[in-house]
Amino acid sequence: METLKLNGDVKDIALAEKGKRRIEWANQHMPVLQLIRKRFIKEQPLKGIRVSACLHVTSETANLAIALRDGGADVVLCASNPLSTQDEVAASLLKDYNIPTYAIKGEDNATYYAHITAALDHAPHITMDDGADLVTQLLTKRTELIKNVIGGTEETTTGVIRLRAMAKDGTLKFPVIAVNDALTKHFFDNRYGTGQSTLDGVIRATNLLLAGLRVVVAGYGWCGRGVAMRAKGHGADVIVTEINPTKAIEAVMDGFRVMPMTEAAKIGDIFITVTGNKSVIAHDHFQNMKDGAVVSNSGHFNVEIDIPALEKLSSGKREVRPFVDEYVMKDGRKLYLLGDGRLINLAAAEGHPASVMDMSFANQAVAAEYMVKNAKELKAQVYPVPEHLDQQIAKLKLESMGFQIDKLTPEQEHYLASWSEGT
Ligand SMILES: NC(=O)c1ccc[n+]([C@@H]2O[C@H](COP(=O)([O-])OP(=O)(O)OC[C@H]3O[C@@H](n4cnc5c(N)ncnc54)[C@H](O)[C@@H]3O)[C@@H](O)[C@H]2O)c1
Repeated sequence: METLKLNGDVKDIALAEKGKRRIEWANQHMPVLQLIRKRFIKEQPLKGIRVSACLHVTSETANLAIALRDGGADVVLCASNPLSTQDEVAASLLKDYNIPTYAIKGEDNATYYAHITAALDHAPHITMDDGADLVTQLLTKRTELIKNVIGGTEETTTGVIRLRAMAKDGTLKFPVIAVNDALTKHFFDNRYGTGQSTLDGVIRATNLLLAGLRVVVAGYGWCGRGVAMRAKGHGADVIVTEINPTKAIEAVMDGFRVMPMTEAAKIGDIFITVTGNKSVIAHDHFQNMKDGAVVSNSGHFNVEIDIPALEKLSSGKREVRPFVDEYVMKDGRKLYLLGDGRLINLAAAEGHPASVMDMSFANQAVAAEYMVKNAKELKAQVYPVPEHLDQQIAKLKLESMGFQIDKLTPEQEHYLASWSEGT
């Protein structure tokens, strides 16, 4: 199939110079991806491979796209969220790096899907997703493209859950590597990246002092642990809500108060959902919230907060600051929703710091390479990143940070491999 002539759709190409500086700054903090890019330039493992990537269009993603391009791939990029695009980065990708990019911060739903369609027009061999929107469109609306695809990669928990459901009912038609499940991804990105950047988003949007406030974190998974840990570090009184008893007991042992959302709703000052679930904050919770409560989400989709219920309960809404909407309840209370309930770390801040994305995107790059080499042996299932690649990324990261670790001695190797030792 002929590749279509691709252009791109960005807010303002004149922003490119600022974007280039941001991309170069991020690159400084992505040593592992830099090493992979150097190897890619030499080995050209992606030569002739068309990649359609639907990722948050940030300076870190730009460095991934450049590494893939330098590895021989023909890359196009579109946004995986209407609010997360850095417009200057999108402009620079198009102008300075010749990578067709379809992403405008604040794009409406129709434009968001038109951009995904444009990225699919590239007839990808490899799909890269963050939330599985690209693959979902491909498998449901663009089935004529399936035959070109050798495989895909998926960046986040929610996307992996969707893809596993597709694999189970036979909808998935090609193998996908769950980059999210690599230890060097979720251990760091979800926990430390989401932890720091979510609070950054809440603080930038509101300029509230967290010390002394009650911060309710819904979900104590990888992201929730990070958010709770960092909120505690700011001096907040952190309350955790969970549905999983093991995670809940972990939160208790980590020193947090645990209670159902119905109780937390009455006392929380700031709410942050990170569950990957829907309607975690819903009608009855809004009814019980204090005047002035701030509600935000850092989970993948904007369904964690039941916004239609909030709208129904309110008599009016106005923007009081960028990313802060004030809802006046019929009883006079005011509740504040941040960033339209979308990932607040990307909407109001800059997403994860580059040094965290370094490991996530190193995984993406080696996963794409692995897919090109091994797709023929893989079924239409969701696969983990092979452990040796995960370990290799951890090793490179440690080295780049100037840390060294011990090696097993032959005696220790024998000891660990033998059941008869230790008696
Ligand atoms: N903001 C970001 O930059 C970013 C980064 C990585 C992941 N994510 C997204 O964040 C979400 C969470 O990811 P994760 O890796 O922490 O997942 P996870 O599976 O490790 O954790 C989710 C937790 O939420 C809990 N949960 C589910 N429903 C709940 C409910 N109704 N009330 C309270 N708790 C509930 C689960 O028991 C689980 O412990 C996903 O949507 C993921 O895609 C966002």
